Amino acid sequence: MDKLRIGIIGTGGIAHAHMHSYLKLDDVEVVAGADIVPGKARKFFDEFSLPHANDYESAEEMLRKEQLDAVSVCTYNTQHAVCAIAALRAGCPVLLEKPMTVTLDDAIDIMRAEKETGKIVSIGFQPRYDNRMRKVREVVQSGELGKIYYVQTGGGRRRGMPGGTFMRKDQAGVGALADIGCYSLDMVLNALGYPKPLTVSASTFDYFGKSEKYNPAEHDTFGVDDFSAAYIRLEGGITLDFRMGWAMHMDSTGATIFLGTDAGLKVEPAGVGSNWGGAWDSTCGDLTLFHDQFGMPTQTPVPVYNSTESNFDQKVSAFVDAVKNGGPAPIPTSQIVYNQAIIDGIIRSAAQGKEVEIIIPEI
Ligand SMILES: NC(=O)c1ccc[n+]([C@@H]2O[C@H](COP(=O)([O-])OP(=O)(O)OC[C@H]3O[C@@H](n4cnc5c(N)ncnc54)[C@H](O)[C@@H]3O)[C@@H](O)[C@H]2O)c1
Repeated sequence: MDKLRIGIIGTGGIAHAHMHSYLKLDDVEVVAGADIVPGKARKFFDEFSLPHANDYESAEEMLRKEQLDAVSVCTYNTQHAVCAIAALRAGCPVLLEKPMTVTLDDAIDIMRAEKETGKIVSIGFQPRYDNRMRKVREVVQSGELGKIYYVQTGGGRRRGMPGGTFMRKDQAGVGALADIGCYSLDMVLNALGYPKPLTVSASTFDYFGKSEKYNPAEHDTFGVDDFSAAYIRLEGGITLDFRMGWAMHMDSTGATIFLGTDAGLKVEPAGVGSNWGGAWDSTCGDLTLFHDQFGMPTQTPVPVYNSTESNFDQKVSAFVDAVKNGGPAPIPTSQIVYNQAIIDGIIRSAAQGKEVEIIIPEI
């Protein structure tokens, strides 16, 4: 079979990680890239010594002129939907960076385009491939915890605002809540089997982002959240307690916990002052089962081997395999739309100052 011809839309930071992973695969070739910043796509290919890859300043032009088999969408968040939909309509399956979109409406538009075109979209949550993350799901799905009724997740950085396009409303659209919060949400929702979210009550804050003291370079253009907290009701009588920040006067907001009627699972953050969602090849810390044995409360470490293969490489090769074999999306929009609906609900609830209902339209 000929090599799969890949195009990349948005050749900024994370496009480099996509390219490094594609370069490790014998059966694919990145043949084109587009970035709206003039010269940026060319510079990107020059960095990788790929003189024959074609560069464009418009995704639409690239999609029109190139015969592509698949596309990575690596733009900032507000452009995810428009670029993913353009790629689908050009006949290309899409590996779309996280978060899926900014709004639920955009996520639904992507799913409708997927249905219309019959092409897949897979969302870029590489922590899913990590051994520790797989173990979290395995424990939760095993039934060992009994009926799960409460989950707490999130985390944050003491000081970790990413800067640049991540801080602007017109580009990122949403802040820490979606940038790293979507990973926490994916960890717990994937472990639970992606139950449907029903309602959200939330607050968002921007004290650090807007502060000249803590954000001297970009405080006056800061337009998103730097901390949020939410109480989410999920189908099946599960309450989800979530908080996430890029900056706070605290080292951590605690571990992720699952409380069940028979046992509880604690998932430690990957490191002090950091969060497992914050790094490209991110993982989580130790897993401990809290249960009763011989009538006494006890706790047992859950053994798990660290991953040896890069999570990012696994995410890219799983997408490539699905394209080659006509398989389903490895991380499908049918799941991640719930993640997006929660983010959308948090934004709406915070703006309205009250609990909001989550209504997900039929596709
Ligand atoms: N999976 C991960 O580990 C991970 C890590 C970092 C970022 N991300 C995600 O990747 C996305 C990009 O992040 P980044 O750090 O690369 O940002 P970035 O700002 O460095 O790069 C985004 C690029 O997209 C370009 N762009 C924007 N709109 C475009 C359009 N319509 N057509 C073509 N190019 C366009 C911009 O000019 C910019 O060069 C974000 O959604 C972010 O959440 C994922």
